[in-house]
Amino acid sequence: MTTLLQLNTSVFSENGQSSQLAKEFVENWQRQHTNASIIVRDLAANPVPHLNGERFKAFLTPAEQRTSTQQEITAYSDGLIDELKQADVITIGLPLYNYGIPSSLQAYFDHVARAGVTFKYTANGPVGFLQGKRAVIFATRGGKYIGSNNESVTTQVRNFLKLLGITDVEFVYAEGLSLDATTREQELIHAREVGAKLAAA
Ligand SMILES: Cc1cc2nc3c(=O)[nH]c(=O)nc-3n(C[C@H](O)[C@H](O)[C@H](O)COP(=O)(O)O)c2cc1C
Repeated sequence: MTTLLQLNTSVFSENGQSSQLAKEFVENWQRQHTNASIIVRDLAANPVPHLNGERFKAFLTPAEQRTSTQQEITAYSDGLIDELKQADVITIGLPLYNYGIPSSLQAYFDHVARAGVTFKYTANGPVGFLQGKRAVIFATRGGKYIGSNNESVTTQVRNFLKLLGITDVEFVYAEGLSLDATTREQELIHAREVGAKLAAA
């Protein structure tokens, strides 16, 4: 069965502008994939814990040597990874917060990047194990940054997904949402139109 994973990362949960755009993409996509399975993971409603030394050490400890706490920590990460592995299509709502990705998404990334599990190091650089997936990302922000030095989150997210082996990645932007009502409306309409085209592709 085809599976789509929607990741909401906005602090406003499903009410975030990025979450709304991702949701509309899912609804459009479902019209072409009526039997698909949809998973919605909301990182504001169910936050992934911040990565710390204890959690990272649990990942590095060989399975047979893990304490019960380390087993719990690793099982939680394994669950997130299994969900990601199931997905053929991943859509992410990606607001810009303080010139960065939401900390909720960073915590999620920190729990699904596991050497030997989702990628491996080779002499030619890392190789990701989650190949053959498609990602569509709805990037919303108050200002306008495309083409400027302040546009760093696109590169970060693209690089991270590549680490996992996900290279079919498309970004849909809604910029200048804090500028004025007209800009906001035009940008959201445009993002919806682009999203609808991508959902039908
Ligand atoms: C905590 C916070 C930090 C923000 N930082 C920025 C920023 O650095 N640059 C920017 O252009 N907009 C910034 N914004 C505006 C958001 O990017 C914009 O409102 C976006 O549409 C929010 O998406 P969301 O509704 O999905 O959370 C910030 C908003 C919040 C709540």
